Amino acid sequence: MLDVCDLVLEDHHTMRRQFALLDDCWDDPRALGMIWKGLARMLDVHAACEEEVFYPYLLKYGDSGDDDATEGDVVDETDDAIGDHDEIRDAVAAAKKEEPGSEAWWAAVRKAREENDDHLAEEEHDALPDFRRNASVELRAELALRWLDWRYAHDSGEGITYDKDPEEYIEQYRSSPVADPVAHPVDRSSVTAS
Ligand SMILES: [Fe+2]
Ligand SMILES: [Fe+2]
Repeated sequence: MLDVCDLVLEDHHTMRRQFALLDDCWDDPRALGMIWKGLARMLDVHAACEEEVFYPYLLKYGDSGDDDATEGDVVDETDDAIGDHDEIRDAVAAAKKEEPGSEAWWAAVRKAREENDDHLAEEEHDALPDFRRNASVELRAELALRWLDWRYAHDSGEGITYDKDPEEYIEQYRSSPVADPVAHPVDRSSVTAS
């Protein structure tokens, strides 16, 4: 069965692999430029996709923090994630201004990698386990369809959103929660339309 959590993890694996490719090509600026072009876009697209298709649903269905048996709650998890996404996006934007292979470029890419590594670990330790515990398999499957459709429509990077204020983002989805995706399955021709 499709599962949005698995699709998130798949992207995380690809990102880590792509950063490792940069190490493989460390002395080839042309290859570095090509790999980075795709990786930079993927970092931005992945973050925007999570902000469309994962965190709004985590805020609705994840751990409210009322139960002492689990750590954290959806507000903390989302606040951390959006803040991290902003840091990653800023580092990616800084690296895009430098010449691939230059010292300044490596410094900016290293910063993006560190920010991203820390963030992926947090998502994998907090947000994703929270969703696996609290969201039904039907919901995770329906969101996987939305994830795929959104990604297919935005993989070029066109039309994606960038930095957001974490508090405003949380407030937006707390005051107007998303509709239940299982009760409102997406149309086969336009998953992103809802
Ligand atoms: Fe992620
Ligand atoms: Fe993320």
